[in-house]
Amino acid sequence: MTTHAGPGPSLAPASGAAGGKLILLGEHAVVHGEPAIAAALSSGIRVTIVPREDDLRTVDGEPAGDARLARAIAIAADRLGLGSERGFDTAIEGDLPEAVGLGSSASLSVALVRALAAASGASLSGDALAEAAHAVEGAFHGTPSGVDVTTVLHGGLGWYEVGPPRRWEAIVPAKAIDLVVVVADRRHDTGRTVGSLRERATAHPGLYRPLFRAIGELVREARSAIEAGDRERLGEAMTLDHGLLRACGVSTPALDTAVEEALGKGALGAKLTGGGGGGAIVALSADDAERLAARLDRPGRPAFPLRVPAR
Ligand code: PMV
Repeated sequence: MTTHAGPGPSLAPASGAAGGKLILLGEHAVVHGEPAIAAALSSGIRVTIVPREDDLRTVDGEPAGDARLARAIAIAADRLGLGSERGFDTAIEGDLPEAVGLGSSASLSVALVRALAAASGASLSGDALAEAAHAVEGAFHGTPSGVDVTTVLHGGLGWYEVGPPRRWEAIVPAKAIDLVVVVADRRHDTGRTVGSLRERATAHPGLYRPLFRAIGELVREARSAIEAGDRERLGEAMTLDHGLLRACGVSTPALDTAVEEALGKGALGAKLTGGGGGGAIVALSADDAERLAARLDRPGRPAFPLRVPAR
């Protein structure tokens, strides 16, 4: 069924979905050319598009209140060749906590492009889908490295470099990686933390370049530890990465406390994950992640286990 004649392709009701992501190591330095390691999450976001007879574009039944979301929808529609006269309702649902570093905006960006492509009957190539999703993510984050969208699109665990060209390589762990994510602080604004770190790094390259390089070294070391099944070495790399991210000024007291607590309760390593300035930490469990998660979970600070399977 198609409805509403007008500029660009006709629309039919359709949905698109995408999972979230977790950065294991390398966030922030990845924006400055260093590698990062990230894993796709099965939890994610589903977007449903329903065409309208008028030119309004609503979100969950109301005009989009968030200017960045309205812009993201406009960019996605534009990429699909839909004129601004083409109205539709966008419904967003999912089980990914928002703005805590688990890739909710990347997940939303990919799901939105997939939903609009399905609604307009377009079959996008992998590259066109990726380019559209990266452009949409820019509405949320300004100048993202692309690690989030790339991880969401590829799935699994991988190595990412911003390039150009962007590079993704699957990583095959020798042993399962048992993690606990703790949502330890308020929502954060990745665009702001990335932007202010960029300003500091531009003003004092001699101070920040060595930190970014050291993070890159930890990412290389972590990859070799993952491929060798050396959990202790991976954990140590993660904790050292947190120290460097803290030195870069993107941690918070609540994240530092959660990292210390995780280490005190037996984690092999722990660090903030994602943009920092709030959000979540990730801890590496020595054994059963359910038990570590139960020890770290408390009201208002949810902790949940997550497993990256072995080959
Ligand atoms: O979207 P978040 O909060 O998971 O952060 C993404 C990772 C950063 O390296 C901080 C930014 C980027 O674009 O790579």
